Amino acid sequence: MSQRTKIKALLQSQQTEIDVTVKGWVRAFRSNRFIALNDGSTNNNIQIVVDFENTDPALLKRITVGAALSVEGKLIASLGKGQTVEVVATEIEILGDCDPETYPLQLKNRPSLEFLREKAHLRFRTNTFGAIFRVRNSLAFAVHQFFQERGFVYLHTPIITASDAEGAGETFHVTNFDLDNIPKTDTGEIDFKEDFFGRATNLTVSGQLEGELGAMALSDIYTFGPTFRAENSNTTRHLAEFWMIEPEVAFNDLIDNMDLAEDMLKYVIKYALDKNADDIEFLTQRLTEEEKSKPQNERSEMTLLEKLQFCLTNDFERLTYTEAIDILKESTPNKKKKFVYPIEGWGTDLQSEHERYLVEKHFKKPVILTDYPKEIKAFYMRQNDDGKTVRAMDILFPGIGEIVGGSQREERLDKLEQRMNEMGIPTEELWWYLDTRRFGSCPHAGFGLGFERLVLFVTGMGNIRDVIPFPRFPKNAEF
Ligand code: 4AD
Ligand code: MG
Repeated sequence: MSQRTKIKALLQSQQTEIDVTVKGWVRAFRSNRFIALNDGSTNNNIQIVVDFENTDPALLKRITVGAALSVEGKLIASLGKGQTVEVVATEIEILGDCDPETYPLQLKNRPSLEFLREKAHLRFRTNTFGAIFRVRNSLAFAVHQFFQERGFVYLHTPIITASDAEGAGETFHVTNFDLDNIPKTDTGEIDFKEDFFGRATNLTVSGQLEGELGAMALSDIYTFGPTFRAENSNTTRHLAEFWMIEPEVAFNDLIDNMDLAEDMLKYVIKYALDKNADDIEFLTQRLTEEEKSKPQNERSEMTLLEKLQFCLTNDFERLTYTEAIDILKESTPNKKKKFVYPIEGWGTDLQSEHERYLVEKHFKKPVILTDYPKEIKAFYMRQNDDGKTVRAMDILFPGIGEIVGGSQREERLDKLEQRMNEMGIPTEELWWYLDTRRFGSCPHAGFGLGFERLVLFVTGMGNIRDVIPFPRFPKNAEF
């Protein structure tokens, strides 16, 4: 096996007139002479020049879009336009043929994103998805680097749990029962004692509760893993399986929590901008092109690149839920009855139309809303002295809506138990969680960042199903 050089490195090579081996897939082949070859290391192709007069015609016929090739040749300064170097082939080997009659990704008729979703096993081979998944990779790495630089411990919380951390009842069951023969108790209920774990279990909706246990000794932890929600929302912002990053920090209050989240978001966005400049440039053009087909008033004022840079250089706007309600109540769309859900009083949850108004029209920048009514938030959030609100925070991003949800936690045992009882959360089952409040409890705070919503924002894509390799959503678990 000869050593191959990746195309990204070849394109940046300062040296020419050297022998190289390059491997990849054909993106285009024109005039029986110029192959555009791509190996996924970059969106840019390397041009392979074929000496077609001295190449077996049978081999030339097999150089089709999608075929896998190994090419040996000389790297030279390019004579043509559009590239600085190219490879003059001395030896071409077909590693894998690709029948043009049946290959679904012919570049001539540019496939739609919807079409590519059904061909998710092949869509990595397009420029758009190559760029998306390289950016996703960088963001994931940057998340780890951010926390590691700050001394956080990466904690692996369980995927299978017996609790519903958010108390929203949207879990997927995990069972080992023979579904045709489920053991029942004398009273006719499912006998979970007979099941693998001896109790009812589900896929986790959040690693937070276990994360808090770690923070109560390690001080600063984060999780980064898959989470699962059986909410039947067929939207461009929801997945049934998504990745979440959840830091949890002992001794932090809500202000520290907001600072941490804002710093982290800026850090990872900057990392991707530096590391994936080519890909983000490509995605910026893609979005600009896509928006040309929209009416003027639906196009964004900034390009993707401008939006990302804007996000880095501006402080996020911070205000309370109550202040946001006042703004929304007085807003033009509310007065003109343009909201599907009019803002009438205090206490209801904000819909995405309200979040987007605040972020995109009113403040025109990312917004952190705090101190929500306790009725619309989870049981573990710290109760404020007003008896009505909790120390919650949601971060809202342009084009996305909620990207982060978090809070300062209720560290006082009596207050926590009282709230759990009010909300019907079983205190016996969560005895281990309550133990942290019994033994050396302390103020602490954390949040959850939906990783795919972050990738959506940074890539400028419009549908969350396009930023995870194999999306899981209602009625779909293909691949
Ligand atoms: O707001 P959520 O439900 O918060 C929690 O799960 C907390 N336990 C987090 C914490 O404090 N440690 O979810 C957090 C984030 C949301 O802001 C959103 O970005 C994302 O997770 N998210 C989803 N992303 C994709 N598909 C879904 N169905 C999502 N549900 C939530
Ligand atoms: Mg939330």
